[in-house]
Amino acid sequence: MRTEHRVIIGSSQKMPECADSSVHLVVTSPPYPMIKMWDKHFCETNPEVSKLWRRFDANCQDETVKQIYDAMHNSLANVWREAYRVLVDGGIVCINIGDATRTINGRFRLFSNHARIIEHCESLGLTSLPYILWMKPTTKPKYKGKGAFLGSGFLPPNAYVTMDCEFILIFRKGNLRKFPQHDRLRYESAFSKKERDIWFSQIWQVKAARQKSNLAERRIAAYPDEIVTRLVRMFSAKADTVLDPFLGSGTTTKVAIQTGRNSIGYEMDEALAPLIRKTVAFGRSNKSSDHIVEISRRSVF
Ligand SMILES: C[S@@+](CC[C@H](N)C(=O)[O-])C[C@H]1O[C@@H](n2cnc3c(N)ncnc32)[C@H](O)[C@@H]1O
Repeated sequence: MRTEHRVIIGSSQKMPECADSSVHLVVTSPPYPMIKMWDKHFCETNPEVSKLWRRFDANCQDETVKQIYDAMHNSLANVWREAYRVLVDGGIVCINIGDATRTINGRFRLFSNHARIIEHCESLGLTSLPYILWMKPTTKPKYKGKGAFLGSGFLPPNAYVTMDCEFILIFRKGNLRKFPQHDRLRYESAFSKKERDIWFSQIWQVKAARQKSNLAERRIAAYPDEIVTRLVRMFSAKADTVLDPFLGSGTTTKVAIQTGRNSIGYEMDEALAPLIRKTVAFGRSNKSSDHIVEISRRSVF
């Protein structure tokens, strides 16, 4: 079975390359609001965020922080709106997101990104389904500067719980997907009992992707193939189309090729194009007997 894979170097805030109701599954991990490594990205892509940060530097008001956080999520919400448009009835959205902790004005606090995304997606009409907690075995609580433990040693009550889980939020558009009886491709996509027992449990212990050597590669925080493979096999059938609007290094495209799904990926950072080519292991445009990959550019905004 021949599958097709498009990578568009451009912003997914608008996805004119995707027709309405043409995508069966969205699997993605966006930049995380209020995590420092993504501040620059949000400032560069949303002038409102950069204006607000300047205002915060001048007035240090908590209200301004709230506005910055809102503006970052509003940027992401444009993409969730487009994802809703392109999904088929019964299509699924899986969003990997971590909450953020940060000390602002001398006060340590949580920014609950997963809750914000649930609110935005539900307001679009998506139905929330039970989510997955992805526990990274490498981020166990540690102590004395050797890890993530924050607070006051063994004395109550001022210590903080270590955040060692990220969320994989799951939503459905509309009704359950319908298939013809004994649909061949659906049956060929079945998972085993062992896979079902592990994949459909709420806590996943999966190692984070190996840290890459190059700065650009580290900056995007790629998710591991294993996470994407599970989601693609749980929520789509062979020959379906999978969309990743925040493609990064191209993990979703690579997994779609491996699992016999078609795919579309958007990545606005042109500098990542060579890395995407490396991940999918093909050149600019590749044809083989079972799949074709095309990487094309359009203006970023
Ligand atoms: C967390 S990374 C995704 C990493 C990816 N899951 C992987 O495995 O490599 C988020 C990516 O989204 C890209 N990005 C952010 N906003 C975007 C937008 N509006 N359109 C397209 N790409 C965007 C960033 O440049 C970054 O590479």
